[in-house]
Amino acid sequence: MIHASGLLGTRYDGLARNTIDYWMQPDDPTMSMPRVLHAIESAPVLPESSLRLYLHVPFCAQRCRFCAFSGGNSLDWRQAERYARLLVRQLRRMWARTAMQGRSIRSVNIGGGSPDLLGPAMASVLQAVHELPGFGDETELSVELTLSTVHRDFIDTLAAFGVTKVSFGLQSLDPEVRGHMRQPRSLQHLERVLEWIDGRIPVVNADLITGLPGQTRQGVAADLDELMAERRIHAISSYLLTPGAAPSLLAAIGAGTIPTAPCALDQALMRLETYGAFRRAGWVRHGTNTYVDPRRVDGPTLARLAGDECIGAAGYETFLLGVGPQAIATMPGVRVENLVDIEAWCAAVERGEPPYCVSKCSTIHQRDMALWTFPLRWEGLSRAHLSALRASSVISPRQEATLAALQQEGLVVEGPNGLALSLLGEVFMGHLVRDLKQDSSRAAVDAYIDEGEALGRAAATGRAPDTNALNNRQLAEIWLDGRRA
Ligand SMILES: C[S@@+](CC[C@H](N)C(=O)[O-])C[C@H]1O[C@@H](n2cnc3c(N)ncnc32)[C@H](O)[C@@H]1O
Ligand code: SF4
Repeated sequence: MIHASGLLGTRYDGLARNTIDYWMQPDDPTMSMPRVLHAIESAPVLPESSLRLYLHVPFCAQRCRFCAFSGGNSLDWRQAERYARLLVRQLRRMWARTAMQGRSIRSVNIGGGSPDLLGPAMASVLQAVHELPGFGDETELSVELTLSTVHRDFIDTLAAFGVTKVSFGLQSLDPEVRGHMRQPRSLQHLERVLEWIDGRIPVVNADLITGLPGQTRQGVAADLDELMAERRIHAISSYLLTPGAAPSLLAAIGAGTIPTAPCALDQALMRLETYGAFRRAGWVRHGTNTYVDPRRVDGPTLARLAGDECIGAAGYETFLLGVGPQAIATMPGVRVENLVDIEAWCAAVERGEPPYCVSKCSTIHQRDMALWTFPLRWEGLSRAHLSALRASSVISPRQEATLAALQQEGLVVEGPNGLALSLLGEVFMGHLVRDLKQDSSRAAVDAYIDEGEALGRAAATGRAPDTNALNNRQLAEIWLDGRRA
């Protein structure tokens, strides 16, 4: 049956709320550390397995309201030296536990927070990454930075270590919208940073968000035009705001101190017009939310882009080793969540203990991940991959029916390499991911978003503190238990 009653003739009445943690599973109070470690050690290397590393740097000088990553961020980065040492120690330990150790590394992403706040300690992290067996000419090495805090020396270090991609957030060029988000209104830092980079890093990526309070369709289109015209920027990641992952933002809307978000139709049109503008200009999708101008990047560099963004999606077979507070690691058959509290995380690593939040780890096999992460991957879903999934009976009849309906409704189309998203499919990508999951995984993501919204209400009415820590869902129970709105 074709649903045509929703937005843009689809079955959906609004945009997705679930675009942050794709692998989330329900908490398991019976989980134990030995089980988690055993699952990491026994994760099987499969024919399509690749090794990807994510190193999280939880320091920030800002407390941007929308930021889903600020939950554990510390405003005190004087511990940078110690933190960098422990980050590398934990990376080596986790890597050595997996059956992928020594194999070639597809990508390394150092993200945050603000990795630039590591200052000179960044060189030791990059050196350690270079020394890992498996790091080579094919490995993408990407680093995030924050425009307002980065120094020239940091850029020089990235260039000296052959970093292939640098990424920073702009979100919006409109000073009003930036002000609502508690970001510096001025963009003077952008010009300075582009000058410092001076062509030495092959891919320069800027992040934008649609759906921010105070944004208009015209404003979003103007931002995009301006950025695409800047030839020193090669790639743009356009994210859809996930408000439920940003309780502080919801609290400010609830308290009436900033405007509400644009209406659902405007939000959908912002996504449609963004993807349309990229495609018209010949930019190609090369990541969950990233479009690249292929004329500004050479072929080998383009091939090296792994498409692992800050919230990158990985297939079931991928070994994504995430280290640092609040980082997530996924391997076939296991999802690992690091502790969020920086001091607790550092102390555990110093004691030689795995720094995981055990009840939030999961050993549920999500083999159907290949099905529901495909909307996020520009490569699409090959027929061979889909047949293998069907042969192993991991797709439920409901998932099969959903996939068929999405095709019938034109959100998923048959391309030369298998199934791909239509333009409309990209607009509603978060919904597609959710709908293609098994019921239990869908429920976990919904619960997480509901929890974020309840936290926003708690902060708006003064029942929870509106600080960085509000975004730390490992603390949510303290503020919500028995006090749920
Ligand atoms: C880890 S963050 C920021 C990195 C860096 N500190 C900066 O400010 O540029 C990477 C990107 O995630 C996106 N992001 C953060 N919170 C989000 C949310 N709640 N919804 C959608 N995108 C979000 C933003 O575009 C942000 O630039
Ligand atoms: S957007 Fe960047 S600078 Fe702002 S709080 Fe998030 S990680 Fe920090």
